[in-house]
Amino acid sequence: MIVAGVMSGTSADGVDVAVVSIQGRGSYLSFDLLLHDYSEYPKPIRQAVLAAMNASSISVAELSRLNFRLGEFYAEAVARAQKKSAKKLDLVGCHGQTIYHQGTAEPYLGKKLACTWQTGEGSVVAARLGIPVVSDFRPADMAAGGKGAPLVPLLDYAVFRSKNKGRIIQNIGGIANLTAIPADANPDEMTAFDTGPGNMVVDRLMQMLFGKPFDRDGAVAGRGTILKPILEDLLDADYFKLKPPKTAGREEFGAEYAEAFLRRCGKVPKADVIATATAVTAQSMAQAVQRFVLKRGRYLDWVVSGGGTKNAALMSMLEKEAAELGLWLRHSDDFGIPSSAKEAVAFALLAYQTWNQLPGNVPSATGAKRAAVLGKISYA
Ligand SMILES: Nc1ncnc2c1ncn2[C@@H]1O[C@H](COP(=O)(O)OP(=O)(O)O)[C@@H](O)[C@H]1O
Ligand SMILES: [Mg+2]
Repeated sequence: MIVAGVMSGTSADGVDVAVVSIQGRGSYLSFDLLLHDYSEYPKPIRQAVLAAMNASSISVAELSRLNFRLGEFYAEAVARAQKKSAKKLDLVGCHGQTIYHQGTAEPYLGKKLACTWQTGEGSVVAARLGIPVVSDFRPADMAAGGKGAPLVPLLDYAVFRSKNKGRIIQNIGGIANLTAIPADANPDEMTAFDTGPGNMVVDRLMQMLFGKPFDRDGAVAGRGTILKPILEDLLDADYFKLKPPKTAGREEFGAEYAEAFLRRCGKVPKADVIATATAVTAQSMAQAVQRFVLKRGRYLDWVVSGGGTKNAALMSMLEKEAAELGLWLRHSDDFGIPSSAKEAVAFALLAYQTWNQLPGNVPSATGAKRAAVLGKISYA
């Protein structure tokens, strides 16, 4: 089956599309990545998405329009990828844009509940392309008692499991998340959780201080000095001590966090702020690995992916952390998965599972009480 996976993460930079040929079931599930394509959000769309994500209030009309507009954008992105791949698609798996995610249950109108919202109308994508679309993957896991994230362990298990090596698979998007796969593990022996910020804090501070969407190649961090006391203070935050499973988003590390960060830094050179935020990003990942993964088993590889791998300053910090932890820092590209395509490939696999009425979540990763078939299908 030829499936397109469509991922637009919390960075709200744009949409990654992976065209994947998938076959088999369970431990015989296998796939080939045929094409990866990236469509950047035009500025007004990115602004609308970020405004919706950070909104303490927004009109329902705006939300409704955004849902349909993103559906159109995703359809165009998939159509482009389909054309480039010269393949006929059988199915699309579209993650959508998260505008709210609350992984932990909190009281609301007399019930304790966790909830999430991804937008980007699947019916529009299906109608434009004439192909069935699976969307809205996270709610089914949450309804089964999970945190709705991370959903990438299905892919991680398919690609990175090894008979004799424990591997930690680290994605660095807006938020950073990891999947730990012990040597010769069953799926239910994996641990997965959000370690904390990926690019999100640095991106936001770059916007505030330099009017740029991100720190290209880590150049600004590279010429700054890390403010050690502030770094230590920030690494002491509650989120980093919380036991997995746990999820994070703009609610934890969004605009308010970046503003508090900047206030905490006070009057210092701007590059030092970026260097320090980059160090918080790197060290919070290392700290998570040390606290919650290495204490439970032996691991050899730490495999990174996501847009953060393009930040050279962040990567050199992670190299240092990896050496101290006794791990080999590797790239998902070495395993045939281009760094920025990984999550899109995951949603192609998740859609394939749903189409076959098979579960997509890994309960040990999300904390769900059971495996669940994820998503909703829009027929063309
Ligand atoms: N050349 C680059 N240099 C530094 N950082 C980059 C570069 N290209 C992309 N990034 C970072 O990657 C982010 C996008 O990563 P991505 O994996 O798509 O995250 P998400 O899944 O949250 O959308 C950008 O916001 C930026 O921070
Ligand atoms: Mg992205």
